[in-house]
Amino acid sequence: MSGNKNIFASKVGAILAAAGSAVGLGNVWRFPTEVGTNGGAAFILIYVLFMLVLGVPIMVTEFAIGRHGGSDVTDAFQKMGGGRRGWKWMGLIPVVSGFLVLSYYAVVAGWTLYYAYEALMGGFSGKSPEEFTNDFIAFSSSSWTPVFWMVIIIAMTCGIVALGVQRGIERGAKIMMPLLFVFILVLVGCSLTLPNASLGLSFLFQPDFSKVTSSVLLSAMGQAFFSLSVGLGCLCTYACYFRKDVDLMKDGLSVASIDTLVALLSGLIIFPAVYSIQGLQPDAGPSLVFITLPNVFQQVFGNLPWLAYIFSLVFYLLLVMAALTSSISMLEMSAAYFHKNLNMSRPMAAVLVSVVCVVLGTFCSLSFGAWKDVTLFDMGFFDLFDYIVAKLIMPIGGMLMCVFLGWVVDEKVLRAEMTNNGTIKSPLYPTYRFIIRYLAPVGIFLIFANELGFFDFLS
Ligand code: ALA
Repeated sequence: MSGNKNIFASKVGAILAAAGSAVGLGNVWRFPTEVGTNGGAAFILIYVLFMLVLGVPIMVTEFAIGRHGGSDVTDAFQKMGGGRRGWKWMGLIPVVSGFLVLSYYAVVAGWTLYYAYEALMGGFSGKSPEEFTNDFIAFSSSSWTPVFWMVIIIAMTCGIVALGVQRGIERGAKIMMPLLFVFILVLVGCSLTLPNASLGLSFLFQPDFSKVTSSVLLSAMGQAFFSLSVGLGCLCTYACYFRKDVDLMKDGLSVASIDTLVALLSGLIIFPAVYSIQGLQPDAGPSLVFITLPNVFQQVFGNLPWLAYIFSLVFYLLLVMAALTSSISMLEMSAAYFHKNLNMSRPMAAVLVSVVCVVLGTFCSLSFGAWKDVTLFDMGFFDLFDYIVAKLIMPIGGMLMCVFLGWVVDEKVLRAEMTNNGTIKSPLYPTYRFIIRYLAPVGIFLIFANELGFFDFLS
């Protein structure tokens, strides 16, 4: 263990924590939804390509800014910007996004915890497809039950962040990430033995490029960004705790590989299961995980209720863990700022951020029910927060970070960071630098423009 409690003690701990931040509901919930609604295998190929050419370089950029010597994300920007105080303000974007993203992410994470609880109590047993649909709508639109589960998720996240970098974040990732893999492999094994599993495999792995439109291209790019958490600052914050001997490029590739693998394995759980029942469609959208799947578990294992019980329980526990490892990085991003800059103890800072997130998250949760009609810019709170984070902060944040490192920061500083002061070779450095100077800013601008509807005339 490292003597300094404010850095990850081991290289593997650093990779697992960063992978934990990346792997989340985006992989197990959003990825299958996007694959299902964007036509399957061709979307996946494009998504992987975007991961490699844009996602990894931007992730490495966040790593470099954070690891350069920052104690929190604002300090990291100031140091990377040559100590000029103005750059500290740029680091405040991630601090604010920490609040916003956790507030709405915790709502869906709370749903997963409720579903895990329901699965544990045998609540899915014997339900009809209509009951699953009605139950989900009734639950998500009720006033206090989803808020209660959201508060539990935020409290769990807060507890882990309060414990600190090594005892909380690193230990949590070291326990949860391997467990997550075991759960995933068990579920993939079960799913592949279901009737008609091969149809699900074809959907996932036989590309049909006739389905690729400009909007599929841009959705794949957006999914790659969301899935890796790039542009938000979570990875920048974690990189503040990286040791100086961590190879940033290698770690970026490892984290992206783990993230992609988990997304693909989630697809291997979900699509064979969906195809195992006649009449279900892979493009059910966001309800796939909360309505379609519990229904699948009940119908497929109708004769073996104990298997339906185990399958459902393991699946929702998996979702909870994936959500938690990401929510930890979101809370840490803002909590670290208050802890380091306002002389607050770590637990106090974690509690302060959590309380604000509970208040904002309550608004988001109520926007599915009691406050359905309360809108701003024609959106309820949940959709508004999602819009601000995924469609504004992520693309703009990613683009600014690339421009900052590619054009503002002294090239010698960047090279020193990528080669650990010349102690390791970084053969991909020239390619990386080209990407962050040219390709990434242009690519991100395209996503941004698409999200704002600039390309609507193409579809
Ligand atoms: N990258 C995080 C996720 O996939 C936000 O859930």
